[in-house]
Amino acid sequence: MADQPAIVFNGTAIPATPRTPGSDLLGLILDAKVNVRFLCMGGTCGQCRVELVSGGEHLEPKSDGEAWGCPDDDARLACQAVHRGTGTVVIKQ
Ligand code: FES
Repeated sequence: MADQPAIVFNGTAIPATPRTPGSDLLGLILDAKVNVRFLCMGGTCGQCRVELVSGGEHLEPKSDGEAWGCPDDDARLACQAVHRGTGTVVIKQ
């Protein structure tokens, strides 16, 4: 995925880095210094909820905690959704 962005967030492409695989979406967005709504960073407040547009297969499955706090199939908690580093995840908030 060297030539593909890791994330397209609200239309902004965030490049893949060696840190992408295994990192949560919120951390990758913040590393890129892109504005994103968040609060607890612990999966409880729901402020970092993002709509999944495409590329969900490039994320690890929801943990039980994330599935409880964010049950919709087309949404993830950015602080809990872990990138596999296998392609581009398109999300919006
Ligand atoms: S920042 Fe609170 S749930 Fe993600």
